[in-house]
Amino acid sequence: MKKFYITTPIYYPNDNLHIGHTYTTVAADVLKKFKIAQGYDAFLVTGSDEHGQKIQEKARENNMEPKEYVDGIVRDIKKLWSMLEISYDEFIRTTDEKHEKAVQKIFEKLYQQGDIYKSYYEGLYCTPCEAFWSESQLEDGKCPDCGREVHMAKEEAYFFRLSKYKDRLIQLFKDNPEFLEPESRKNEMLNNFLNEGLEDLCVSRTSFDWGIQVPFDPKHVVYVWIDALSCYITALGYGSEDDENFKKYWPADVHLVGKEIVRFHTIIWPALLMALGLEVPKKVFGHGWILFEDDKMSKSKGNVIYPEPIIELYGIDAFKYFLLREFSFGQDGSFSREKFLQRFNSDLANDLGNLVSRTVTMVEKYNGGILPEPVEKEEIDQSLIELATSTAARVEENMDRLNYSQALEEIWKLVRRTNKYIDETTPWILAKEERKERLDTVLYNLTESIRIIATLINPFMERTSKEILKQIGLPENIKWEDTKKWGKIEAGTKVERGQVLFPRLDVEKELERLNKANEELIRQRSKKKVEEKKVEAEKTEEEYISIDDFAKIQFKVAEIIDVKDHPKADRLLILKLKVGEETRQVVSGIKEYYSAEELIGKKVVIVANLKPIKLRGEESRGMILAAEKDGKLTLVSTLEDIESGAIIS
Ligand code: MSP
Repeated sequence: MKKFYITTPIYYPNDNLHIGHTYTTVAADVLKKFKIAQGYDAFLVTGSDEHGQKIQEKARENNMEPKEYVDGIVRDIKKLWSMLEISYDEFIRTTDEKHEKAVQKIFEKLYQQGDIYKSYYEGLYCTPCEAFWSESQLEDGKCPDCGREVHMAKEEAYFFRLSKYKDRLIQLFKDNPEFLEPESRKNEMLNNFLNEGLEDLCVSRTSFDWGIQVPFDPKHVVYVWIDALSCYITALGYGSEDDENFKKYWPADVHLVGKEIVRFHTIIWPALLMALGLEVPKKVFGHGWILFEDDKMSKSKGNVIYPEPIIELYGIDAFKYFLLREFSFGQDGSFSREKFLQRFNSDLANDLGNLVSRTVTMVEKYNGGILPEPVEKEEIDQSLIELATSTAARVEENMDRLNYSQALEEIWKLVRRTNKYIDETTPWILAKEERKERLDTVLYNLTESIRIIATLINPFMERTSKEILKQIGLPENIKWEDTKKWGKIEAGTKVERGQVLFPRLDVEKELERLNKANEELIRQRSKKKVEEKKVEAEKTEEEYISIDDFAKIQFKVAEIIDVKDHPKADRLLILKLKVGEETRQVVSGIKEYYSAEELIGKKVVIVANLKPIKLRGEESRGMILAAEKDGKLTLVSTLEDIESGAIIS
């Protein structure tokens, strides 16, 4: 059996996936179902991209360990995919042990063979944010995150010899016109990146530790894109003992990705694979963006459209149909609820829904629900038969180019033609005139055309397809190849009206309902965020606090009894403190101001009841107070000596 390997990107743990995010997954899932219908052994991978500084910060804001934080969100992402009936074969998480180990092996192999080397990363550094910025990212010459001064700094880092692969990458684009589609994205890659010259890529970070450790240098974690892209092969077991799937499915037949991440997939990824001595993917398809009224969807603009209300109100098939029919896959498109409702009414309720219900009703009315035998064929029958049996080829052609919208349009040409056939043959007049043989033929032809339509839409709209098949008395095990043949449904089959496929909607009323449902969801989701923000604002704003608030904080005197360097962070010290009878560990960012000798034996002031956290793997129970101004820092202490454990109030 021929295999077909499809991937979606792996998603950032975002607790609010919008319809734009569902675009890639829905398209990938439909492609998988389409390939299976065509007889392929298709395999679909999706997953989550869970490492990196931002996630670590988010987790900290939520007072959670990063893994605990991402676990909850990944559960929600999986729930959404299950709501959309996405039939993925593997959900790979970058925190999966098999993935982490394989990425370490990849990094080590590339280091051993000289494709990764150690050097220095130089740039403008913001110390409090522990982040490097480029000149253009600065705002008024200051850190864009916190607004403070930045200074030139140099940090040890590992680099991937991307520049070495420049010529091979250019050749890859030249030799394989289908490697990157649509065509328009190719020039951007060649002109803006490849022909401009490629610099080696910094592939490790030391400013945070929520990532995969470089196995031979644990102060460094692997750059998130190297970590994330590797998922496409680690999901198949590459680098593990069980690599059967890798041997079977690699190289990928297509990576479906949004246009903004094409660069990573068509430059860094193939270079990495070349360095590993592996085949490159056959195709990367960079699809367009779904915008809202021509604007990028964003929570801050309040214009985010969530899939849940649409699916709950109108079903998953209407949602999927709209996504794939309305937008041209390679280009940006603008979502609007009006367009959705109009298409629902015209394409689904009027065209498809009506066709099925009119036909089934007529077979019931004129032949007691039993499909009659066709008799003689007229020219008009022949034209319907020709269109019906040739549609599959046009759908295939369009799906080969990932032109979902045109593939559906080809099916709808048949739907509309079949509806027109009813108007042309006027079965009600045939019944009145008692032209039984002609009526039988027309009813048979209509039902047979519907059988073909139900099979053609199956990969796109499985539920609707099954419902139609049920109404025309057919089992679900349909064959794609039978869409190219006429006369497969047998006379005598029992046809029976079922549920209305797509009830016609009152656009004005539904618009209101849909708006409300989306707003309600936004409200629910932002309520939680607002509450979190309030707490944050209260923390940062300089305002009065009550004595009760103050009483909640326990300040104590502590004696520093031991100091050591943090093994994984250049700027942190691990201090052992005696607080009365108790000893505890605190991690503090004071290494550039104090040496161990200066600290041991000193009495300092700590916040003793701060919730313990882990800082780059080391537990910290409490916080040492310090005064800071103009780059100078001094620890807070008491005027006279006093025993450790003394309470400050
Ligand atoms: N984690 C990276 C991918 C790593 S792959 C090795 C990432 N994640 S993402 O969560 O930001 O995006 C996931 C997918 O959703 C991407 O294909 C992205 O293009 C897509 N979309 C997000 N918003 C979108 C729209 N508004 N419209 C269409 N797709 C967009 O990128």
